[in-house]
Amino acid sequence: MIERSLILIKPDGVERGIIGEILSRFEKAGLKIAGMRLVHIDEKFAKKHYKAHIDKPFYKGLEKMITEGPVVAMVLEGLHAVEIIRKIVGPTEPRTAPPGTIRGDYAHHSYEYTDKKGIAVKNLIHASGTKKEADEEIKLWFSESDLFDYETVHERHVF
Ligand code: CDP
Ligand code: MG
Repeated sequence: MIERSLILIKPDGVERGIIGEILSRFEKAGLKIAGMRLVHIDEKFAKKHYKAHIDKPFYKGLEKMITEGPVVAMVLEGLHAVEIIRKIVGPTEPRTAPPGTIRGDYAHHSYEYTDKKGIAVKNLIHASGTKKEADEEIKLWFSESDLFDYETVHERHVF
């Protein structure tokens, strides 16, 4: 049941100076940071990370957005981590993401607006969608030696 998931704070989140606020939501939920780094990816790497979306109409805008500045890449660990993190992050479109989720509380972009402008939906976060996606993405972004095992105080209360 203990899983790891890949999370990115996208360039919009980094540039808006809300890395700390976003991170604190995951920390407060008791998730463990197994790895974390600031990285500015290029188009080639973006195509690997978003390989499932390359043929979609929004890909061009998505690639431009994800390569326009550094992202915080992290691996978070916890029970049902993939599902729990998606719940904290909220659905893709900030317009319809409920309050209480990161995308619902900190952004308000809509597909209606971004499709018209030909830009990506700015929704602050990437989070792996499935366990399989998480395993592949963690391998892409982190080497084993950059991931750490240590004890958090949450473990005394959760496990
Ligand atoms: O990030 P998430 O898994 O929620 O959504 P996705 O369907 O995997 O899409 C990846 C990213 O592409 C989204 O987070 C948006 O930033 C962007 N996107 C977009 O710009 N326009 C769409 N119609 C769908 C997604
Ligand atoms: Mg996705």
